[in-house]
Amino acid sequence: MNKSKSIVVASLLIGLTITACNSGYTRRNPGKIYAPDMTYSRAYDAYTENPNFADSQTSRKPIAGTVAVGHDLPDHLTEADTNAQKAFTTSLRFNETELKEGARLFNIYCAICHGSNLDGQGPIYTNGKFAAMPANLKDAKYLHRTIGQMYATIKYGKNAMGSYASQLDIKQRWMIIAYIKKVQAENGGDAFTMGTSTTATPSIADTTKKSN
Ligand code: HEC
Repeated sequence: MNKSKSIVVASLLIGLTITACNSGYTRRNPGKIYAPDMTYSRAYDAYTENPNFADSQTSRKPIAGTVAVGHDLPDHLTEADTNAQKAFTTSLRFNETELKEGARLFNIYCAICHGSNLDGQGPIYTNGKFAAMPANLKDAKYLHRTIGQMYATIKYGKNAMGSYASQLDIKQRWMIIAYIKKVQAENGGDAFTMGTSTTATPSIADTTKKSN
């Protein structure tokens, strides 16, 4: 072997040794593909370009008016239409368990401001951290609010009170209102009418929804 040949062989060997080592780089490429039609989907992947639609998007929005399985029908209430809010109502009637659930939800979402006695003296207000006085739901001013008005307050919020639409689904909002109305009825409000059901009210949401 002459000198130049041995240099070539030596450098090849060195090269091989270096490439054989893993320099800490994690290889993501599986090498041989066992099932190419699984690796490369024949369907359009969710975020890939799609020539079949004018906007080239593969992910489509649901058709307008579609209600996803396990979700409630929309209520069509708008923030501006206070007359519609006043008249808005529900045919849902709740049993004891559901009224208790309404109370539980009230204590989670509302009592921090409105107080667990519904008197507007929640801890965030009494400790001076919240400037606006939350409504005293036992006060004559609020005793005769319609359930639709209360629903709209939960859905859209009111002045210093924010919206709870993203935290509470439609049935949960009504269960909280039923609880408030029951307490109001015991404190000089209108007769309580939302609680005649003896069995749990089935809503479409109940059958499939696990969480929101
Ligand atoms: C961050 C504090 C806060 C929380 C939490 C809160 N509220 Fe309020 N709420 C207020 C304030 C403040 C008002 C008074 C708004 C106004 O009239 O200016 C009010 C008003 C109301 C009213 C009366 C609205 C009317 O018709 O004038 C109702 C009913 C009500 N809240 C229900 C609820 C319910 C139900 C929850 C829980 C889902 C809740 N609030 C959570 C602060 C809060």
